[in-house]
Amino acid sequence: MTTPRQRLGVNIDHVATLRNARGSAYPDPVRAALIAEAAGADGITAHLREDRRHIRDADIDALMDALSVPLNFEMAATAEMQAIALRHKPHAICLVPEKREERTTEGGLDVAGDANRLTGYIAALTEAGSRVSLFIGHDARQIEAAARVGAPVIELHTGAYCDFVADGQAEAAAQELAGLLAGVALASELGLEVHAGHGLSYATVAPFAATPQIRELNIGHFLISEAVFMGLDPAIREMRRLMDAARV
Ligand code: PXP
Repeated sequence: MTTPRQRLGVNIDHVATLRNARGSAYPDPVRAALIAEAAGADGITAHLREDRRHIRDADIDALMDALSVPLNFEMAATAEMQAIALRHKPHAICLVPEKREERTTEGGLDVAGDANRLTGYIAALTEAGSRVSLFIGHDARQIEAAARVGAPVIELHTGAYCDFVADGQAEAAAQELAGLLAGVALASELGLEVHAGHGLSYATVAPFAATPQIRELNIGHFLISEAVFMGLDPAIREMRRLMDAARV
């Protein structure tokens, strides 16, 4: 049986981080998105944070106009973001938890604890034509809640695994990976499409690329960082090569 090709979503948030560091007009995240498309990205991911620390409203307008591949719009489940999403109707929406003081999205969404509100919230986005995914940890309670609130997709948070690998904590990394793969199996049994992302690099992508039920990976910070040294196009092509190699 052949395994379907895993999609690669390239997150261009940190091109905007660099731009905003100097208040300049460059580097332009839309230009990065077009390079990513040409390098084989199957989608572009952008997170409009409440504090607009990287991507801004005008970037989302420009990305919606410029892209040929689908936009995966990451956002907190707030009323403000819902209104923006309903105006743009992006192909995909990934709901993430957001805390102003965090450096990046640190944990998964508490779907189980906010299930009643999320059910209606997700239904409105789904009715508008967007495919909603929930960014969660591999806790079975959260995965089961994701299925109950009517989201067709979950994205599993790979950040802790990547941190353990980077810190040389092999045992903790193996345990975290086992938890993630059990989460993939449970979600698939429940009929959810599974994506994964956060912190992935050339060194950590293989086990997720090799897992047939994971249909999409979303990768940003590492690719933009590599682009500083080798350029964005080759950085993305190398990730694509490693994903395909692991998939075989
Ligand atoms: N997926 C989600 C839901 C995210 O919030 C992020 C970070 O914005 C990513 C993937 C990409 O993470 P990274 O930039 O660490 O590759």
